[in-house]
Amino acid sequence: MSDYKPLVRSLVMEGEALIRATFSGRQRGADLPWRRVILRPVMVRQVRHIQFSYLDEKQDTTKNYADEAAAKLEELLDLPFRNIHVQTTEGDLQVQFTKRGRAIVHQHDAPERRELPSLQHDRRKELPLPADRPDPFLQQIGIMTQEGTVRASMRSKYQQINRFLELVIDTAELGSVDHSPLRVVDCGCGSAYLTFAVYHYLNHILGLPTRVTGIDVNEDLIARRSGQSRDLGWDGLSFQVSRIIDYKPDVAPDIVLALHACDTATDEALAQAVRWGSARIYSVPCCHHHLQQQMSRRTAPTPLAPLLRHGILKQRLGDLLTDTLRALVLRALGYRTDVIEFISTEHTDKNLMIRAVRSGRPGNHRAVRDTLEATREYLNLVEAWQVRPYLGQLLGKELSDLMGEGTDAD
Ligand SMILES: C[S@@+](CC[C@H](N)C(=O)[O-])C[C@H]1O[C@@H](n2cnc3c(N)ncnc32)[C@H](O)[C@@H]1O
Repeated sequence: MSDYKPLVRSLVMEGEALIRATFSGRQRGADLPWRRVILRPVMVRQVRHIQFSYLDEKQDTTKNYADEAAAKLEELLDLPFRNIHVQTTEGDLQVQFTKRGRAIVHQHDAPERRELPSLQHDRRKELPLPADRPDPFLQQIGIMTQEGTVRASMRSKYQQINRFLELVIDTAELGSVDHSPLRVVDCGCGSAYLTFAVYHYLNHILGLPTRVTGIDVNEDLIARRSGQSRDLGWDGLSFQVSRIIDYKPDVAPDIVLALHACDTATDEALAQAVRWGSARIYSVPCCHHHLQQQMSRRTAPTPLAPLLRHGILKQRLGDLLTDTLRALVLRALGYRTDVIEFISTEHTDKNLMIRAVRSGRPGNHRAVRDTLEATREYLNLVEAWQVRPYLGQLLGKELSDLMGEGTDAD
């Protein structure tokens, strides 16, 4: 059980092969001061230090230790992390704890010797999939050229994927999902850059066994991406041709993703995630035609009519109203929900993310109050604008059940 500690100590503290060590997730029922701690070697005034980046929900704290590094490492080894992943130039060490707290240790060699990253201590925060060196994965999926630079046409997609990965790891407390493998569904995956990246990042970089399924109605894309996954031998990455709303997973996913799923496809993804009881939802909506068409046929509630006079304002108002109603539906149905700007508009103008975490205690006083308040706000908005949001239609039964028999929720 404690055999892994000398291995971790020697890989982190001895020799010069360390690339990065990541401590993440918490063991069942345990508490941790941080979500994740990342260690990497850095040079500070010509002295080798280990940089400890402590990440929690609100902020990152970074400290560089030389003599104290061994003691700081011991502190981490004594904490109930669920995963420890040490990457060196020679290979990987992965330690995972079972529900009963037993350590399972895997060690494997790197297929080819890896380069040591730059040891500058003040370099910019590293992206989940950095492009400061050639990366075979990014090259395989066509984001990076063989020469090791991100293709000009893929720069925005590359930024979006990295940001998506950062948000998923920072808010998902992935290690707290008490079963393995983790299951992820990417709705409206299209060319599946995000789908491949999530699979690669969680399995191969964070060392979290994860099965990922991409679904899309586009048969050609799905056939191409399925073939590519098979060629890579990535058994846990599959693709299926299906409308999102018709997709029936064998096992309900823990995490549902939807990046720019068109118009009401976003609503299908949110509705499915709620029905599956998925723990986390990350959705970046695309166009919002459904509600805009209805708004064109209605009179705006006074005194808001002038907001519909100019096409561009009407369109933006339609976007805001749609996403506000989506967030309210998720809150009403038991998800702590926020809407954030997930990336700068330089990379995409469709840059709002609806992020939802299923409430751990649906029956408690605060959760019930939140649900009632969100339902009331949702019904008031729908009534004022005389609209029938698509998500409300898909989840009409669930919303009606919430308000008691006879409520016309949509
Ligand atoms: C704009 S693309 C986004 C693709 C990918 N998520 C990305 O960000 O690169 C939207 C994708 O959603 C798919 N789609 C649209 N409606 C769908 C539905 N109801 N069910 C499944 N896929 C759908 C389209 O075929 C298309 O590939």
